[in-house]
Amino acid sequence: MAPTRLVVLISGSGSNLQAIIDACQSGYIRGSVVSVISNKADAYGLTRAKNAGIDTQVLSHKEFESREAYDAALSDLIDSFDPDLVVLAGFMRILTASLVQKFRGKMLNIHPSLLPKYQGLNTHQRAIDAQDAFHGASVHFVTEELDGGPVVCQAKVPILPNDTADTLAQRVHEQEHKLYPLVVKWFSERRLTMEADYAVFDDQNLPAEGAPYSEE
Ligand code: GRF
Repeated sequence: MAPTRLVVLISGSGSNLQAIIDACQSGYIRGSVVSVISNKADAYGLTRAKNAGIDTQVLSHKEFESREAYDAALSDLIDSFDPDLVVLAGFMRILTASLVQKFRGKMLNIHPSLLPKYQGLNTHQRAIDAQDAFHGASVHFVTEELDGGPVVCQAKVPILPNDTADTLAQRVHEQEHKLYPLVVKWFSERRLTMEADYAVFDDQNLPAEGAPYSEE
């Protein structure tokens, strides 16, 4: 089985990118990051990629007149690396339908909430305000609906009495760094696909909350 070619898209710190790079280097994920693309030139994740000897690309949305024009260029850039999987890791852009359709079943995102709760921004504060007992993170296939594609797996984090958005975010982040490599590992082992509107794992259509989370 050929190693999975990953292209990772970022806009910021890239701590999830780092977890995926580390998991590739240790052999946990059967693949490698062939390029890291950022829409922001100052994203720290680009430094992480360079430190690991990985190709980096900056494609600034400011140089394009429209979302469609940007996504067309982004699509060509991604394609030029011939990826098996496109990994969105803190890529802070809303994607056009044509880009999403092009990489259907080959694009994952991580979102800091237990989807379908709290699509969009400020998820940690919203979970605290709602007095939820649990918060967490979800990895899902990307579809046209923002943060709405089929969930592959979720990591749960209890909300503690004195939690602020920052303390909660930190604990969610720690879980993300285990969850995202796990799901990419499944994909790299050809155990994970998207068929119709379902995530399929080990030949089972996954329920709304995805596959049970277990550290492998
Ligand atoms: C994560 O919280 C992720 O859930 C969200 O963006 C953040 C990225 O963090 N999509 P990092 O850049 O990987 O540190």
